[in-house]
Amino acid sequence: MMYFILMLLDQVHQSPGDIYSKSGEEATIKCLHSIQSYDRILWYKQLKNRQLQLLGYMELTIAYPEPGLDVKIDGSADKDQNCTLTIERLNSSAVYFCAAS
Ligand SMILES: *[C@@H]1O[C@H](CO)[C@@H](O)[C@H](O)[C@H]1NC(C)=O
Ligand SMILES: *[C@@H]1O[C@H](CO)[C@@H](O)[C@H](O)[C@H]1NC(C)=O
Repeated sequence: MMYFILMLLDQVHQSPGDIYSKSGEEATIKCLHSIQSYDRILWYKQLKNRQLQLLGYMELTIAYPEPGLDVKIDGSADKDQNCTLTIERLNSSAVYFCAAS
């Protein structure tokens, strides 16, 4: 089974725009921002009720993934650096957002 992931922009650049991944496989999405004074990237998943679930965040190069969600956050949240979200065992289609602050 293939799952579809859509990502939307929130004053930041996300890539790839959308990805397909097989059930149970890892999926990786990247996010970067170009705002000098920002050093934090937050990752969210949109739930079926349209609420956003915080998956974790990165401050400079320190990751704070929420426990129990099977996500990994790597890279850097500094200006023009890639911050990577890895969803370790993809089991549904979902919309993911990143935001910079
Ligand atoms: C899908 O993965 C999430 C995050 O790891 C987990 O909380 C959820 O229980 C899983 N759902 C199923 C149906 O396995
Ligand atoms: C960030 O990722 C993009 C897409 O993979 C890549 O083209 C770019 O060179 C990367 N930027 C940095 C600073 O690593």
